[in-house]
Amino acid sequence: MDSIYIGGGRELKGSVLISGAKNAVLPMMAASLLADGTTTIENVPNLRDTITMASLLEVTGAEVNLDFPSLSVNTSTMDTPKAPYELVKTMRASFYVLGPLLSRFGEAKVSLPGGCAWGPRPVDFHLRALKKMGASIKLKEGYVLAKAPYLKGCSVRFDFPSVGATGNILMAATRARGTTTIENAAMEPEIEQLAEMLKLMGAQIEGIGTSYLTVHGVEHLKPITISVIPDRIEIGTFLIAGALMGKVTVKNSVPSQLTSLLEKLHSAGTQVDIDRESITASFTGRVNPVDLTTAVYPGFPTDLQAQWIAFMCLADGSSMLTDSVYHDRFSHVPELNRLGADIKTEHNTAFVRGVKKLKGAEVMSTDIRASASLIIAGLAAEGETLVSRIYHIDRGYENIVGKFQSLGAEIKRIKS
Ligand code: EPZ
Repeated sequence: MDSIYIGGGRELKGSVLISGAKNAVLPMMAASLLADGTTTIENVPNLRDTITMASLLEVTGAEVNLDFPSLSVNTSTMDTPKAPYELVKTMRASFYVLGPLLSRFGEAKVSLPGGCAWGPRPVDFHLRALKKMGASIKLKEGYVLAKAPYLKGCSVRFDFPSVGATGNILMAATRARGTTTIENAAMEPEIEQLAEMLKLMGAQIEGIGTSYLTVHGVEHLKPITISVIPDRIEIGTFLIAGALMGKVTVKNSVPSQLTSLLEKLHSAGTQVDIDRESITASFTGRVNPVDLTTAVYPGFPTDLQAQWIAFMCLADGSSMLTDSVYHDRFSHVPELNRLGADIKTEHNTAFVRGVKKLKGAEVMSTDIRASASLIIAGLAAEGETLVSRIYHIDRGYENIVGKFQSLGAEIKRIKS
């Protein structure tokens, strides 16, 4: 397993170009299964997860051509409504193919996603809604066996605005008989782009960008060409690094998708400059402690929680960070404490006492965003840090080592 070596304490200066959004492209790849013909997706990030999803589409019999940053999916050869455990266990987003396969074939055999580093990740919202749409759902040997001669429109309401469940049901509803309404739908920009893509394919969707979606089922969806939006979580990761260690400009961003982060950076004493698509975060000599609670969009993203904690480790004072989306997403905390941080967790809150400095050490990555948190902390620490198990970061960040090197960081990948 590869590691990342970091020589900490260097100032970061410069600009980076952000890759396409992982959490947008994965459902969009699943949505391509709904079209009759060849869909092309541009600005696809080169990640383990996009490679996994491409393999999953190939398992269904579709003809997939992945030549980063372009992807094409020809569905004319699809013949296998399956998503095997060996792929699904490595990436929960594989579950996105359930809706499209069921809609296209009238049946699907999709492995239940496992848990992840921070606990169980249920899919009950997805299954309950599909049952309401007329599917029979059986669980057998870790697989979901779904059958529906056809899906019928119905009214769905999610107890929690689940990103994945919103995406799955939205895709299933596009070719259902009748009208489906989704109440308490996720409003993340990635789901908004999925809905826009489906609309371009001929789906009839109202309320895009709101928490109440209406979908009038149609017979067929046509293939299109579409480009993936920039990854707002990658943008936030680099802005937090700039806020802590120098001056970082993200060139291709969408400031309106990051208002909660930008407000918190401002409260932390960071200088934030916005110029149309580019955002610059500059360290101003001090970091104020800032409490926050993560929330669904447009609140502060849970996917930036770990990175924010790394930032607060060096604040002038104590801060509290509560994750209201995932109550136990703190596997990065013990690793940050190995770097000299002073963090305690209780239930779904981390109490961070700012320290004067962090000291490099060997640490272990446990999930995508925890890895980013350890890299930020390692870059800010004095001395050398070695981050192991970085296959996690390869799942969600394209060329993060090269991007940080371009900002002046002393960072390199060490092949195992
Ligand atoms: C998506 O996961 C993202 N992944 C996650 O990003 C992100 O953290 C999460 O949304 C929240 O924003 C992708 O888009 C591929 P949810 P998802 O369904 O869809 C509960 C990253 O680092 N829930 O919105 O799995 C669930 O347990 C990843 O890029 C149910 O109870 O998240 C959680 O507490 C990590 N039953 C909450 O809802 C369900 O059927 C939010 O989950 C579904 C969800």
